[in-house]
Amino acid sequence: MSENQFSAAPTAIRLPGYTKADQQEILGTGDDPFGVDGAGLTWLPKDEHFGIRHGDRLVAHAGLLRLPVAIGNAETAETEVMGVGGVAVAPDLRGQGLARLVITAALDHARTMGPQHALLFCRPPLVPLYQHLGWHPLDTDVLVEQPESRVVTMPLRTMVTPLHDNAHWPSGSVRLFSLPM
Ligand SMILES: CC(C)(COP(=O)(O)OP(=O)(O)OC[C@H]1O[C@@H](n2cnc3c(N)ncnc32)[C@H](O)[C@@H]1OP(=O)(O)O)[C@@H](O)C(=O)NCCC(=O)NCCS
Repeated sequence: MSENQFSAAPTAIRLPGYTKADQQEILGTGDDPFGVDGAGLTWLPKDEHFGIRHGDRLVAHAGLLRLPVAIGNAETAETEVMGVGGVAVAPDLRGQGLARLVITAALDHARTMGPQHALLFCRPPLVPLYQHLGWHPLDTDVLVEQPESRVVTMPLRTMVTPLHDNAHWPSGSVRLFSLPM
């Protein structure tokens, strides 16, 4: 069997943690593995981690954390979304559904945490992939916090997906009360 094949169907598991070394095990040690350094943003680490192992090697990851957000006009009460980030699959194992598996595991857990939606940021070329997985791009500005009390407009695309039946994303601008994830 090729080392790029799984002997049994791959499964996503909850990881006890996720370090820089874990990320490098998946994506290698090259610069800018997510292709987002050009945006010049500071990002939050994630709180919960989901991964796929292939033998001894970690080959896929998706992270999750709860984020405070306001959606719509200024009177809209602050609410929460489940942020998804750090989605990564080892280059030699892409195109086999591992991102789908690990994102599904993260969203299954997110459904137990209360917020109505999950939200992620991605480069424009990844919008079709996430749409295929049931996410919707927002066509509104999304403000996020940055160090030194700065608030900036997110230059990447923002995508959301409902976590519960009848969840409805309100119209209007979006303001994250945290660094992006
Ligand atoms: C983005 C990334 C995670 C995708 O991983 P992957 O394992 O190749 O993705 P999958 O094989 O699970 O693909 C997910 C689904 O999207 C589909 N898909 C892939 N590219 C697509 C496209 N351009 N348009 C529509 N659907 C697409 C796949 O067919 C698959 O659908 P299926 O499960 O119904 O067959 C991987 O390329 C990666 O790690 N990139 C570098 C890090 C990065 O940029 N992460 C994203 C951060 S937001």
